[in-house]
Amino acid sequence: MISKDTIDRIFETLIIEEVVGDFVALKRAGRNYRGLSPFTNEKTPSFYVVPSKGIYKCFSSGKGGNAVSFLMEHEKLSYPEALRYLAKKYNIEIEEEEQSQEESQNKTERESLGVIVNFAQQWLENQLWEEEEGKTIGLSYFHERGFRDDTIRKFGLGYNPNAWDGFSQVAIKQGFNPQLLEKTGLTRFRDEKPFDFFRGRVMFPIRNVTGKTIGFGGRTLLADKKVAKYYNSPESELYHKSKVLYGIDLAKPEILKQDNCYLVEGYTDVISMHQSGVENVVSSSGTALTEDQIRLIRRFTKKVTILYDGDPAGIRASFRGIDLLLKEGMQVRVVLFPDGDDPDSYSRKHNSEEFQKYIKVASRDFIVFKTDILAADAAGDPIKRSEMIRDVVSSIAQIPDGIQRSVYTQECSRLLEIPEQTLILEINKQLREKLKRQGTEYSEQRAFEPLPEEIIEIIPEEKPGAELIHQERELVRLMLSYGDCAIIVKLHWAEPESESAEEIQISVAEYIITEMHIDGLEFENQALKLIVAEYDSFLKEGNFPPEKHFTQHADTTISGLAADLLSEEHSLSHNWDSMHSILTESELDNLRAAARDSLYRLKLKVLLRMCDQIDQTLMNEKDLSIQEMEWTLKRKMKIDQAKAHISKHFQTVILK
Ligand code: CTP
Ligand code: MN
Repeated sequence: MISKDTIDRIFETLIIEEVVGDFVALKRAGRNYRGLSPFTNEKTPSFYVVPSKGIYKCFSSGKGGNAVSFLMEHEKLSYPEALRYLAKKYNIEIEEEEQSQEESQNKTERESLGVIVNFAQQWLENQLWEEEEGKTIGLSYFHERGFRDDTIRKFGLGYNPNAWDGFSQVAIKQGFNPQLLEKTGLTRFRDEKPFDFFRGRVMFPIRNVTGKTIGFGGRTLLADKKVAKYYNSPESELYHKSKVLYGIDLAKPEILKQDNCYLVEGYTDVISMHQSGVENVVSSSGTALTEDQIRLIRRFTKKVTILYDGDPAGIRASFRGIDLLLKEGMQVRVVLFPDGDDPDSYSRKHNSEEFQKYIKVASRDFIVFKTDILAADAAGDPIKRSEMIRDVVSSIAQIPDGIQRSVYTQECSRLLEIPEQTLILEINKQLREKLKRQGTEYSEQRAFEPLPEEIIEIIPEEKPGAELIHQERELVRLMLSYGDCAIIVKLHWAEPESESAEEIQISVAEYIITEMHIDGLEFENQALKLIVAEYDSFLKEGNFPPEKHFTQHADTTISGLAADLLSEEHSLSHNWDSMHSILTESELDNLRAAARDSLYRLKLKVLLRMCDQIDQTLMNEKDLSIQEMEWTLKRKMKIDQAKAHISKHFQTVILK
């Protein structure tokens, strides 16, 4: 690998008009250079090189980027090849950097563990179906629980014989490294002798989203309360408990289809629900959901329905965890099972039609559900009651979508018989506190955090013609061009209507990012989103990113996009040089309006889209309950209000 230092040196040294000039005849045009596009057959030159920004832009093909991406595009070089070419041209010595040893070691370890675990899964499954002990003890246990053969095979269930070291001996004979074997947790050593950790247990393979086995849960068959019911694989390079969801590999297609994900407590709930014909179900294996797990679900849907057994203490204990779901922008519903049943036991008492009907009919919105429960708890006790209100409000304040927040506020004001304004004030207070507190946390969470490996494979391709792209580009363009300029604004969230709203001085970039964050808006375009995230993490360090951070970004999608955006205002005109200064100057004059209007345009577009979605729901969902219908209409009303507000703004601007 070429070291970061070398790459920096190459970019600092190269002269873009020289690099491009080796392939394109360039003529000086003001501060820039112009030539015939090397990518098309054009007759009038519309290919520009902008030395001050280190970029090129070709208006006839739409291509643009830095010197490296020019070479990649024009000479069909790979990224490292282009860097080597430039290093040679400018006599820069290339420093090679080993892929960090630790990195490559971790990778090999993960791969080796994967091989062992895969072998183990097959061996354990074979024990269940083919060996006497497995059949009489393991298989008949599953049958007693009502699992069908096809279900047992679908989940790859297995059995670890009760012999001291049955599996471990086979695995060692197979030639697996004892240390790695120990890391899988399947084998342990006592006085250097191996033994089976999971002996006498039925085995539930845990798979990642692509269906590869990465760990196990093993259930004891003893009724003895002193014996742990489940053992689970230990943490390893391969298995990270906090990042997996049991059943996700099988649930994925159905989650997408249903646009909803059921969340249950345990392995057996997942399996039983499959047997009842409900496949969009996953389990976090008995613990509270982690952020990684929520994001895994969110790749497929924003809607989660949590299935509870009816234990009141358990329900209250779960509220905190659910706030995390809300915070991640998920829409949460809950289903309570009657008489202490869980999904597993309930599905055994009812046929699949009844089961499916129950979870549909009994499902309720989480915040309404929580409000009801807390309100009942606090009835007649004023102190408890104000605590309860703060508690409900704290859930609402988690919701990143501003409109959704206000619908909930209305609903809860009705349920609790408290004036809406009181709730709004409390919510805004909590939001402000949160923003202050989160200052740094926000960037740490969102900025550079790499996605778990298996997720990367399934990020959907960018939707073609995505509707928001123009508005998003415009905002990012403003950030790249004027992000560090200061403007004076009234913060939208600090009591929207009141005259006393705080006026603060803020940079264009911070203004845009804060407004987006408060409204729960995220950039849909992945590349733009990345630019904003990286911009944001500079801000949190107290800096502004230098322009070259983006125009010379190692990711050529980013550098190309940045180059594009920095020359964007001219893309409609070939009369580029003359337009250049005029446009930017007028924009600088009125930056505050430009930033606010761009935000409004994006918001308006999002609102219009929400309206469409709601209309679709109202038209297509035949079996909306009255409550849901009322809810949906209320939401639509809120959106209409917001839309009107923004439209009015634009009208006034035009009239002025
Ligand atoms: N769990 C665990 N360790 C335990 C108990 C539970 O890891 N000692 C996890 C398991 O993932 C389990 C989930 O918590 O699936 C839910 O626990 P529980 O309801 O007790 O288990 P079930 O899967 O429902 O098992 P069963 O129905 O066989 O009792
Ligand atoms: Mn159970």
